[in-house]
Amino acid sequence: MFGNRKAYEVKEGVVTLFFEKGIGQITPYTDEIINVFSPTMCEEHRSKAIEGEKKAGIHFSVTERIDHLEITTAALKVCVYDDFKVDFYDKEDRLLCADYRGDRKFGMAISEKFLEFLRAEGHDVPEQSDENYAVQVVKKMEGDECFYGLGDKTGFLNKRHYDYEMWNSDNPQAHTDAFKALYKSIPFFITLRRDCVYGIFFDNTYHSYFDMGKEKDDYFFFGANAGNLDYYFIAGVNMPQIVKNYTYLTGRTPLPQLFTLGYHQSRWGYETSADVRAVAAKYRDLDIPIDTIHLDIDYMDQYKVFTWNEQDFGEPGALIKDLARDGFKVVTIIDPGVKLEEGYAKYDEGIAGGYFAKTPEGETYVNAVWPGDAVFPDFGNPVVRNWWADNQKYLVDLGVRGVWNDMNEPASFRGELPEDVVFTDEDQPTNHAAMHNVYGHLMAKATYEGLKKYDGRRPFVITRACYSGSQKYTTAWTGDNQSLWEHLQMAIPQLCNMGLSGLAYVGTDVGGFGADVTPELLSRWVEVGCFSPLFRNHSSKGSTRQEPWLFGEETLQINKKYIELRYKLLPYMYDLFWECEKTGLAPMRPLILHYEKDEEAKNENGEFLLGSKMLVAPVVEQGQTHKMVYLPEGVWYDYWTGEKKEGKNFFIREAPLDVCPIYVKAGTILPNYEPMHYVGEHELDTLILDVYDGNGSYIHYQDNGEDFGYQSGEYNQYEFVILADGTLTIDLLHQGYDKLYKKFIIRHKGHTQEFAFTGKKLTIWL
Ligand code: GLC
Repeated sequence: MFGNRKAYEVKEGVVTLFFEKGIGQITPYTDEIINVFSPTMCEEHRSKAIEGEKKAGIHFSVTERIDHLEITTAALKVCVYDDFKVDFYDKEDRLLCADYRGDRKFGMAISEKFLEFLRAEGHDVPEQSDENYAVQVVKKMEGDECFYGLGDKTGFLNKRHYDYEMWNSDNPQAHTDAFKALYKSIPFFITLRRDCVYGIFFDNTYHSYFDMGKEKDDYFFFGANAGNLDYYFIAGVNMPQIVKNYTYLTGRTPLPQLFTLGYHQSRWGYETSADVRAVAAKYRDLDIPIDTIHLDIDYMDQYKVFTWNEQDFGEPGALIKDLARDGFKVVTIIDPGVKLEEGYAKYDEGIAGGYFAKTPEGETYVNAVWPGDAVFPDFGNPVVRNWWADNQKYLVDLGVRGVWNDMNEPASFRGELPEDVVFTDEDQPTNHAAMHNVYGHLMAKATYEGLKKYDGRRPFVITRACYSGSQKYTTAWTGDNQSLWEHLQMAIPQLCNMGLSGLAYVGTDVGGFGADVTPELLSRWVEVGCFSPLFRNHSSKGSTRQEPWLFGEETLQINKKYIELRYKLLPYMYDLFWECEKTGLAPMRPLILHYEKDEEAKNENGEFLLGSKMLVAPVVEQGQTHKMVYLPEGVWYDYWTGEKKEGKNFFIREAPLDVCPIYVKAGTILPNYEPMHYVGEHELDTLILDVYDGNGSYIHYQDNGEDFGYQSGEYNQYEFVILADGTLTIDLLHQGYDKLYKKFIIRHKGHTQEFAFTGKKLTIWL
């Protein structure tokens, strides 16, 4: 399509190649990150994912070869041939990734007659697509590729031989492997081969397509309906380095407020403040730890955003203040659809300012959501984002501690917004086709900015729709799952792949949103939720209520056990988030991330790692009381019994309903807090260390858990070192937060020792 190369030039760190029928550009961002670009639609990148200057100004060389141009960085060699075919090699000259030279071979088309039969029987027959996309890149398969990432897609961890689409979609049917798209568009994947690994980020916001070797085993491809050919080839020595590089480009999840890592209770169905108060009181009565309660759409007056339903929820803010006295933090939902109603301030302000999306004829575009007829803020316009950010003040003043952005695909009840609905892309008009996949991303960004401005603490935002880079502003949940065992099973690969895609702070609706949970399913789900970064029980109106105490004593005790475990492990989870801000690595990780040479890890869907030290092997099948556990190389200890296990082994672990098998790597020092009902109940001046034999070290991080002071050094950092000879040292590496731990409790093989701490190095004989 590009034809032969005529000339090239190198200017300001960009290599521009002039082909017979177009321009191609290669830009080394860093030694390991190379942008491949062609202005197939517009001159600039206009990225929504990448903010700030990411070009590191590295040195690279350009050499003319007989049939190609060679661009070399310290880590990579990029060979660009005629027709803008691009191949990547590492510095040892090993081929990492080559463009496919043949034509795509489409599958057999079905005749119209048979398509009619299929439709007549009610089959949902997908479009017969045998076309090349407006923008398309086809890469050669070498044969042993595994693919990971791609955001929140359904199915298993390894995406080889599957195809997906990026088009943020709210489909309330039970999500199955047949779904091509869900709520998020994260056009980034990692390719793992026996001897190499790399990532590709296709930064195109239009409806896009990813075929990971499904159409043919010879190639995989990505393409889009419109936009630029704009992708980043991301190299690195291993998977963690690829994630680090991808999140260098698109940003990392910032350290959250500590309380947000506690337990959350939600339900679409708390219809009055009395209902909410009763739920909160019951948690405290039963001594089940909890920090956060979510208010779904019923707290609003007729589902009008930034209003309060006084009839059912009383005086605005009173509920929130009362709950706060008992340690609860309240998160409120805010949807993008603004009710069309003259006299309603938000509607009037938006109309006066021209803040809503328009039809091509210039009328305000109207569709329907919860409030009935509704209009859609044009979040691509920075003025609208500022307005939206300012609206958060209303919630902050009521005492709200976090905002839940829902329905921001955007969802609409009278069919999807037509592609030609007019939106703004910063400084120029654009359409829905371009902005659809970034609508939720930009809404979350505006919400984040508003909370930062008016609350000042680290903003807590939860969103349903995302694009690459949303992790800088928001946490996310996997939308409307159902109380199905399949959805519990899917939660593991889905959350792990989101983590690999930069979305570190994620969770599922624990217990399932739609359909009716059983006591057993809720019990097993809380055993997974306990280790997922966002731990929220949420369910839908019309489904069985799923607060922990509604299913009898056994279920109650299991919920309590794992919620308490979550609170014990809060310092570990917080440390993982501290690490995440530096590296982009999510707390919840697939085994393959740290054991990429391990064949068994490639397709491990039933286990995951929490950080690199803990392995969780939950039971996710009804009626199962045993789990087949696989441990990768090394020595591991059973968290519950202390039993030593050699890795690179499968074995059967007994797992009655109240047991989620957990393993801790030898040489681990696991920080714990003492029991609490909520964050802020008492000073966190004691740290418990669970010590596992072996050689190891651990960096622990401590701050006030709330504000941005840590960015200017207001934190403490401790180093714990354990040696195989049985000595443990505790040392202070950085002191910037005035509340040092006063006491360390050391637990080792059933023995407990206590030590006062004054800041001086401690050496302990276990
Ligand atoms: C959507 C959300 C769900 C919420 C409901 C009502 O379905 O995904 O979490 O409870 O809307 O607001």
